[in-house]
Amino acid sequence: MTTTLDRTEAAALRRDEADPGHRDRFLVPPAEGGDYAESAYLAGNSLGLQPAATRAELLEDLDDWARLGVEGHLEARRPWLPYHALLTESAARLVGALPAETVVMNSLTVDLHLLMVSFYRPRGRRTRIVIEDAAFPSDSYAVRSQARFHGLDPDTTVVRPGSGEEVLDLLAREGDTIALVLLGGVNYLTGELYDIPAITAAGRAAGAVVGWDLAHAAGNVELRMHEWGADFAAWCSYKYLNAGPGAPAGVFVHERHLGDRSLPRFEGWWSTEEATRFEMAPVSRPPATAEAWQVSNPPILALGPVRTSLSLFDEVGMPALRARSERLTGYLAELLGAVTATHPLTLLTPREPHRRGAQLSLRVERGGADALSRRLRLEFGVVTDAREPDVVRLAPAPLYSTHHDCWRAADALARLAGEES
Ligand SMILES: Cc1ncc(COP(=O)(O)O)c(C=O)c1O
Repeated sequence: MTTTLDRTEAAALRRDEADPGHRDRFLVPPAEGGDYAESAYLAGNSLGLQPAATRAELLEDLDDWARLGVEGHLEARRPWLPYHALLTESAARLVGALPAETVVMNSLTVDLHLLMVSFYRPRGRRTRIVIEDAAFPSDSYAVRSQARFHGLDPDTTVVRPGSGEEVLDLLAREGDTIALVLLGGVNYLTGELYDIPAITAAGRAAGAVVGWDLAHAAGNVELRMHEWGADFAAWCSYKYLNAGPGAPAGVFVHERHLGDRSLPRFEGWWSTEEATRFEMAPVSRPPATAEAWQVSNPPILALGPVRTSLSLFDEVGMPALRARSERLTGYLAELLGAVTATHPLTLLTPREPHRRGAQLSLRVERGGADALSRRLRLEFGVVTDAREPDVVRLAPAPLYSTHHDCWRAADALARLAGEES
C-alpha cells in the first residue's frame, strides 16, 4: 500500500513534534531572509553548527591556562599532556574502531599525508593509486604529490574510476598494479555512500592497501572500520562532527599495523610513548597504537570543541542518529521529487537510503548553482551550499536539522525554480 505524502507545512511541524532531534543543543544562525527567525541550516556537510556547550567548556580550558600557566600540562581540570586521549574512545566508537587504532590529531589532508608515508609504498609494477573521479581536490593533490615524492609521474600513477563498480572492476582486472586505494566513504559532490566493506575486501584481496577519507562519512553514517579491515582512514571534525572551522581530524590505523616497526613513519616528540617522553631521549620509543602517528603536541584549545562534540555523539549514539537521518533525508528526497519532476533540477544522489548519507545533491541543469544557493539563503533563510557550476548540496544533519527545515528548502526551491522555468 502506498500512502500519499502530506506536503503541507503543518505536516512537517507535526513530524517534528514526534521526532524533535537535538536542535536545542545547538546555536542555529538567524535567517538572513524569509519568514522565519532561524535559518533552515542544511550545510552541516560543509561546516556543522556550534553546540551550545562548546563555549563554556572551551572557556574552562582557557581559564586553566590563565590560572596555571605551564602547570596546566599536568594540573588543568583536563590536563593537557594526555588531553588527546580524552577524545580517543568516543572517536573510536564513532568509526567502529578500537581505541588503540584511533587518535585525533592535525588536519585531514596532513593526516592523509602522514598515513601515506607509511602506507603508500610503490614497488615494481605495483605503483598506482586509485581515487574516485569526483574526489575532493585536496585528496587528488595529496595523492599526486605523493606520487611525485616517490619519483613517479602523477598522470600515469593516479587512476580515477567513476564509480564504486568501476573501482571493483579495475581491482579485478589490474589489481596487481595497484598500491593504494584511497576513496571518500561518502562522496563530497554526489553524496553517494560507497560500499566500504566490499571495496576494502576487494582491494586487500588484490594485494593493495586500502584507506578511506571519511570526511563526509564520520558522524553521518554507521561505520565499522575495524571489522571491515581497512588499513587506515582519516576524517575531519568540522562537518557532521560540529567541532568548529578547521577542527582537528581523526585517524584510524588498523590493529594489524600497530607496533609494526618495519613501517616507515614521520615522527616527532608526540610519537614516542608518553611515560618516557620527558626523558628527552634522542631515539623515540613509539607506542603500539595509532598515537605513534602523532608528531607534535596537539592544540588543546582546538581539541576542546572536538571533545564537547563527541560527547553528544556518545549520548545519542550513531544507530539512533542514522535512523533519524534516514527519516529526514528520505522526507526531503520525497519533497524534492515533486520539484525535480517539474523543474530543470536532477537528483545526483542515489535514491536508496543505504547508498547515501544525509546529503542530497541537485544538478541545476542550466548552471548557476551559486546564484541559486545565494537566493535560497538571502530570500528564504535556507542555507545550502553550491559547487559550481551546477551542483547544490542540501544536508539535513540529524542532530539539529528538522523536518520543517526540509519543508522550507523544498518550498523555497519550488518557488525559485518556478520563476526560472
Ligand atoms: C572529502 C574531503 N577531503 C579532504 C578535505 C580537506 O580537508 P582539510 O582542509 O581539513 O585538510 C575536505 C574538506 O572539505 C573534504 O571534504
